[in-house]
Amino acid sequence: LNYNVARERRYIMEVLFNGLRRLEYRGYDSSGIAIDGDRESNSAGDCAAPAPYDSAEPLVFRQAGKIESLVGSVYSEVDSMDLDLEKPFMVHAGVAHTRWATHGVPSPKNSHPQSSDLFNEFLVVHNGIITNYEVLKETLIRHGFTFESDTDTEVIPKLAKFVFDQAREGDQAVSFSQVVIEVIRQLEGAYALIFKSPHYPNELIACKRGSTLILGVKSLTDERNYSSAFGDVKSLTADGQPKELFFSSDLYAIVEHTKNYLAIEDNEVVHLKDGSVSVLKFDHNKEKPASVQRALSVLEMEVEQIKKGNYDHFMQKEIHEQPHSLTTTMRGRLRDGSVVLGGLKDNLKTIRHSRRIIFVGCGTSYNAALAARPFLEELSGIPVTMELASDLLDRQGPIYREDTAVFVSQSGETADTLLALEYALKSGALCVGITNTVGSTLARKTHCGVHINAGCEIGVASTKAYTSQIVVITMMALAIGADSLSTQSRRESIINTLPGLPEKVSEVLKLDGEMKDLAESLMEMQSLLVFGRGYNYATALEGALKVKEVALMHSEGMLAGEMKHGPLALVDETLPIIVIATRDACFSQQQSVIQQLYARNGRLIVMCSKGDAASVCPGGSCRTIEVPRVADCLQPVINIIPLQLLAYHLTVLRGFDVDQPRNLAKSVTTQ
Ligand code: G6P
Repeated sequence: LNYNVARERRYIMEVLFNGLRRLEYRGYDSSGIAIDGDRESNSAGDCAAPAPYDSAEPLVFRQAGKIESLVGSVYSEVDSMDLDLEKPFMVHAGVAHTRWATHGVPSPKNSHPQSSDLFNEFLVVHNGIITNYEVLKETLIRHGFTFESDTDTEVIPKLAKFVFDQAREGDQAVSFSQVVIEVIRQLEGAYALIFKSPHYPNELIACKRGSTLILGVKSLTDERNYSSAFGDVKSLTADGQPKELFFSSDLYAIVEHTKNYLAIEDNEVVHLKDGSVSVLKFDHNKEKPASVQRALSVLEMEVEQIKKGNYDHFMQKEIHEQPHSLTTTMRGRLRDGSVVLGGLKDNLKTIRHSRRIIFVGCGTSYNAALAARPFLEELSGIPVTMELASDLLDRQGPIYREDTAVFVSQSGETADTLLALEYALKSGALCVGITNTVGSTLARKTHCGVHINAGCEIGVASTKAYTSQIVVITMMALAIGADSLSTQSRRESIINTLPGLPEKVSEVLKLDGEMKDLAESLMEMQSLLVFGRGYNYATALEGALKVKEVALMHSEGMLAGEMKHGPLALVDETLPIIVIATRDACFSQQQSVIQQLYARNGRLIVMCSKGDAASVCPGGSCRTIEVPRVADCLQPVINIIPLQLLAYHLTVLRGFDVDQPRNLAKSVTTQ
């Protein structure tokens, strides 16, 4: 939203499109924008009646598919409408949205902005889920509303129109924020919402419950820009100086514009009007919302972090970045032979006295916790159990106040993980967060935690976050076990090897060409199995997950100890099987697994420690992947990398989209 400085319509559209490009990794099955048109107070759409407002009509464009298909269709429509792209605006309020479908298939009618009516009197973009939408829909239908889409979101703009019309009928002047507050009083579920309305030109309202919402503030005159040191958001934006204000679901969409932002909190209603911002705190039990002062924060992120640089894909960049991301994960945390985790130190005593440590996560984050679990058990002596967040919720598994529940999430916004956190908080257990996202819901709602500091991860398939999560949990184990004499030498040896890990990662990344070669030999396969055990059971699960999610090839990670209890039936000379048999306490068991597979003519690919290639292959016949050897508990960090590379090359060779795999989204913010 520009204020006091003329910006052409084309510029405004490009700002919105670029914002969507930055957010596309979160959802990419359909998208839409709303900007202001030229005509004032006349008919809209197919309706001959005059529009019930005097301002410019909003123009809404929606399209199924990726952002670029929206961009293309908007420019061609704008062209056919003869809309002046050079028209300057002193103030303009636009909204845009990219979607990951929950209710309703990806299609223009189900894309956002969702609208109240033909005149677009109220437009809403929404991230989250409205759980009571059916009841609201029935009520609105009874009041004469007709619904066009299959979304839960559509009830919101319609409810806004209902509230607005009722106030008007009663001859009451109603402000935009009053309308929105009345609407959100009725909503249940999780949401981040932005409202736009021609009844309130040049205004936008945003509010949230659960889902993250950020306001970015960019000064167009002051090169120093604003910072929290200069005061609160209201006084900074009410100064009449030209500025641009950005609402976004995450920081990636605003980093190229400004570093000054406000993380909007639950039940706050943020009102932008002619370039100034006011924040109202809304309390369900109180009649009147109160105005609150909020200070801006300064974003610590560089725009380069969200660009591909010289790489073809984000996933490729993020795989190759791992020596650096692991260095930043460990930076400042290994001091004088011990581990210092500032976010945990006040709670270490409580954790040491826990009756149980429970890891909760989804997807790759769950796998990372699984990889680090044996070492945590070894050093803490506390039973460590694993929970997939959705399963914990489905079972309502018991959690006690003597437990420590550790929530692992790259984004810190995964709905299942956050709901499991809410559930655990009620039990009185200590809740620890491990996340890559500063200021995320997970970071804010847990009692304490550790940031993995891996840097932005954009590729939908998590790679560098996985290895950093393992290292953080390993460091956590070292910190928890720090007062035990019996494990002292073990701890010291791991602490001494940690600084050398990034170099070993650089070494294993040299297998890139070999993995491309392997991918060429596997690209036509229907299926791929990965067997691991001990520390590398998680590697098998995670390697198979990578292949499945990006290369769209059926792949299963399996516990090698379970092989003879079923999976062996699948083995023949065609099905490729990767066996992870690097040196650790499970090495000899893995050798017999290899023998058994060989005896059944299995098509073997063995991952082994450097120098073991000749000895691990029965008859020297199988293909091998030799990786550098590191301490057993850190070996999963090394072993996953060839599998990440394999998944990447398989995807490119099979012609699929690496960074935006079919049907997936980076952070699944709905249940
Ligand atoms: C989605 C992503 C996965 C990710 C999982 C958990 O399913 O596609 O790559 O591992 O969510 O995400 P989180 O942000 O909680 O780690």
